[in-house]
Parts: sequence; C-alpha cells; structure tokens
Amino acid sequence: MMLDDAHRWFAGARFGLFMHWGMYALYGRGEQVLFREHLTPSEYRRRADEFNPRSYDPAEWAEAAKEAGMRYAVLTAKHHDGYCLFDSEWSDFTSTKTGPQRDLVREYVTAFRQAGLRVGLYYSLADWQWPAYFDGPEKDSRAFGRFLEYTHGQVRELCCNYGPLDILWFDGAWPHDPDTWHAHALLAMVRELQPGILINNRTGLQGDFDTPEQRIAATAGQRPWEACITATERWWGYHIGDRMWKTPAQVIHMLAQVAEGAGNLLLNVGPMADGRWPRPFTELLSEVGEWMKVNGRAIYDSSPGVCEAISIGRQSVLDSTVFLHVLYWPGDTLHLAGLNNRVLSARFLADGWSIPFKQEGEHLWLRMLPMLPPDERNTVIALEVEGTPQAFPWAQERLWQGDASRMSAWSAM
Ligand code: GLC
Repeated sequence: MMLDDAHRWFAGARFGLFMHWGMYALYGRGEQVLFREHLTPSEYRRRADEFNPRSYDPAEWAEAAKEAGMRYAVLTAKHHDGYCLFDSEWSDFTSTKTGPQRDLVREYVTAFRQAGLRVGLYYSLADWQWPAYFDGPEKDSRAFGRFLEYTHGQVRELCCNYGPLDILWFDGAWPHDPDTWHAHALLAMVRELQPGILINNRTGLQGDFDTPEQRIAATAGQRPWEACITATERWWGYHIGDRMWKTPAQVIHMLAQVAEGAGNLLLNVGPMADGRWPRPFTELLSEVGEWMKVNGRAIYDSSPGVCEAISIGRQSVLDSTVFLHVLYWPGDTLHLAGLNNRVLSARFLADGWSIPFKQEGEHLWLRMLPMLPPDERNTVIALEVEGTPQAFPWAQERLWQGDASRMSAWSAM
C-alpha cells in the first residue's frame, strides 16, 4: 500500500522516539510490574500519588530527539496498567488527578510540535483496572459494553483534545479479536476526527503500517513498516536493572538496516519517575546524532538497495546515488559486484573526499582506501551513478537469501 501525500513523511522518516512512561516507573521494574508481580491493584493505585515528575521537561526531550536525527515520537498515553498521562472524564487514575497534577500528554504534544517533530500517542486497549477486560463479553456483556464505552471514549478524548496528531499507536488487543473491540468503528472514529493520522496494525486490523517488535523485518507487499526496539536489552518501561544499553554503533547499524529496507526504527526509552531519561540514553542519542548529521542523507527517504552488498554491509539508494554502508571494512580495496549503472563519482559521505575507482562491466573497485575504517561505526560511501540505480539482471537472482531482514526487504520491492 502506498501512502498518500499527507502520510508520505512516515515512509522516509526512518528514526523515531518511543517512550514508555507511567507511574510504573516508580517501581523501576518495567511497565508490566502490576500484572507480572501480581500486585494488589488498590495499593498500586495509591502509589500514583507518589508519582512526581518534577524534572519533566518535554522541550528538553524534544531537543535531544531532534539533535539525534529523529523525526517523530510516540508517547504512551495509557499503558496496560490503566494509568493515564492525560486528563480523562472516564477515569480518576490519571496524571491530572494524582501526584503530578499535570496533563503530561498535553505538555509533550506541545513541546514536540514546537520542535518541529511529528507526534504520536500510544494507547493500550488492554486495561488491567477493568475486570471486564479479563472476562471478555461472554461472561458479562453489559460490563464489557461499559468497558468498550470507556475505551472508545478515551480514544475520542485523545483525538479531540490535543490538536492534530500524526500517529495513533494501539497495542494490547489480545486476547480479543477486532470485532470484540468494535475496531472498525474505533478506527472510523479516529479517521473522522483526525483525517491526517496514521494508525498502526495492533487493533487486529491492518491499519496503515506494520510494527515488527524487537526485530527489523520489512513486510512484503509494500506495506510501510516500523521496527520498535528497546534501547536496553528487554524492558520498555524504566527498569533499574536493565542496564544492557545498545551502543551507538548498534543503533547506527540498525538505521542502515531500516534504510536498506525502506522502513523506520522507533527506538524506545523508559523515562524515570522524576521525568528524566536515564543518562546512558541521552549519551547514546547524542553520539548517534553526530553520525546522523553527516550521514543522514544515506538514511532518510531512501529506497532499498539494488545489488548485493552483504559482504560490505548494507546499501540504500536515493535518486541517482547508491550509498554503501560499509560496516565490514575491507582494507584498501572495496569490490562491489552487480551494479548496472556507470559510476560517475565515489566519495566519503561524511567529508566529501573523493575515492579513486575502476569499473569493468558489473565489477566496481574502490581503491586506495585507508586500511582502517574512517568511521568504525559505519563509513558511508556515496556512488553517483548515471540513471536510476539498478542491478545487473542476473545479479537480482543472485542476491543472498540467507538474511531474514534482507530477504523480506527484497520481496517488498
Ligand atoms: C510488548 C510489551 C508491551 C510494550 C510493547 C511495545 O508487547 O509487552 O509492554 O508496550 O511490546 O511494542
């Protein structure tokens, strides 16, 4: 499915910020502590008064995201625990009526918009405050009806009270099917209230884009896709013990991979209860941002690579430029096979330094390269070619099919 004009920004955005934030951050054991540790709901709810995001400054978050090269963000307006970061007529379990006494969603939307970023909201259909969610309509259809009214009512509030939104990111439809959620009506309402919005695929209906989780995989059939991935090893909400942070090089490799498959990376952080990001995340973003400032042209708005580049890393294309993302530096000579176009120039993208090359038929040799990679994280080389980049016909069949993400990226073409 191709995106229309209003939605095309998403197809080339590549890098977004996901934030799982709620009163669960007080516990520091992830976003699901209520359910996973079988806490007493009334005690959990009481702790909402301790939630005091005194250092919450979404303008600072937006600035850091923008500096990192991110183009959009998605914040959890409500996660499965039922706690709302927005004001709601349907609930008292909200940030406006407990500890913070602030509409955290409103402040986020305002700050991110002001910074020129696209804004999205995450909303969990699953809600552990409602027995009806667990019971389903079979057990008590009237109770489930009230639960549905609440769910649709809150989504309406999000669509009506915060100006134009770019993304509604549903989650938590399990174990119920789309009919049980009245998902067709829900999506129709969202589209009526927010004509410019994009809706993800987690109501059980396809929506506008796919959301592979913790893995990068393009989906077949040209559907827009976005891989959501945690910056730590496991948890989405703040977890005091989840310390295995991704390195800048890992994130930069992921960006090369989504660029090659023409999808997006939604990188997640779990802010702490006081409203600050864990420091390693801020440092991570700032280093990724340095790389993006000089190499972003190889990432944004790219289309998939055209020929085999697996032995050097990844490949993305923009107009008549082929970008080689050299993740595995080959030493003084780089050999690329299977490109059908005449190469006009070869340059390091970061500094524009020109690289001597020789081309014979489908073979291209870049020569006199330094023995060590100029950028260990990913050295991008830009090849300007004649015409629209394409593979030698036989080279298309020769593409290595062993790499799951690459394979599906190709089948999406
Ligand atoms: C998983 C987690 C959920 C999180 C989501 C983000 O489904 O269980 O807590 O919000 O991933 O994609």
